[in-house]
Amino acid sequence: MQVFSDLKQTQDLCKSWRDKGETISFVPTMGCLHAGHLSLIKKAKTLADHVAVSIFVNPLQFDNKDDLLKYPNTLDADVSILNDLAVDLVFTPDAISFYPEGESQVEQIEPGAVFTLLEGANRPGHFAGVATVVKRLFDLIQPHSAVFGEKDFQQLMLVQQLVKKFALDIKIYGEATFREQDGLAMSSRNVRLSETERSKAPEIYRQLEIIKKAINTGEHNYVSLEEKMHENLKAAGFVPDYVAIREINSLLPPQNHGDSKVVLVAAKLGGIRLIDNLRI
Ligand code: PAJ
Repeated sequence: MQVFSDLKQTQDLCKSWRDKGETISFVPTMGCLHAGHLSLIKKAKTLADHVAVSIFVNPLQFDNKDDLLKYPNTLDADVSILNDLAVDLVFTPDAISFYPEGESQVEQIEPGAVFTLLEGANRPGHFAGVATVVKRLFDLIQPHSAVFGEKDFQQLMLVQQLVKKFALDIKIYGEATFREQDGLAMSSRNVRLSETERSKAPEIYRQLEIIKKAINTGEHNYVSLEEKMHENLKAAGFVPDYVAIREINSLLPPQNHGDSKVVLVAAKLGGIRLIDNLRI
């Protein structure tokens, strides 16, 4: 396994593989790897001759500087996990070499209107930061495929749109959300939950399941279901940002009962912001 922080070395190694006709699958991460990340990497291994993983806490996508400063860093442990998985390349740039023009000077990619909803509304600038970093990583590595998690539902949509917009020849795969046994979606931020908060956290998934069951048994009053989940989360000690039942492509409120739907939620517990979603 090669571990490079240098952009040129990374680019050259990937190019040498492509020149030999060998395929690359790519999994971008911000590190502090957990079983959710590993499921993406295992998928990537089935897709190509080589797997490249990036570990880069992208400052552009953090609307909250405190969240950026507190983002966990477990690089040595991450590299050891990736070595055990026989990943071929780990790319760990620093912000100065990744954004040589300076973070504040980066010309960012502005995502479309759907990304002003939900996470976009609650985290101004977040999706522009994600689009910008993912595009640069794709340009550098030029993978044949890339794997993302459905846990970040809008992010996966964003990457699919990015590939279309720039006509990139990269196949995007979405992997199901990997959960703890009690239903909590795995997240690098979970390590920051106190013991009490950790015991409350699975309530998010429990409430999502309640909504799914209600809709599947004929409840069509989506606004009332959203309000109920909002109240239940508040009663359990969360501060919800949103609970939204949306049509799966437009992310607008469903117009017809037959629409494919997804319930999306973001809520803070203590200082930690958790997100999750469930398709219906
Ligand atoms: P990060 O939060 O580290 O997540 C990296 C990838 O792992 C993303 O595709 C995310 O959706 C996926 N993932 C996270 N938790 C998961 C879970 N419980 N089950 C399945 N997949 C999960 O998302 C980012 O980093 C960044 O925004 C990034 C794409 C790297 C751009 O900076």
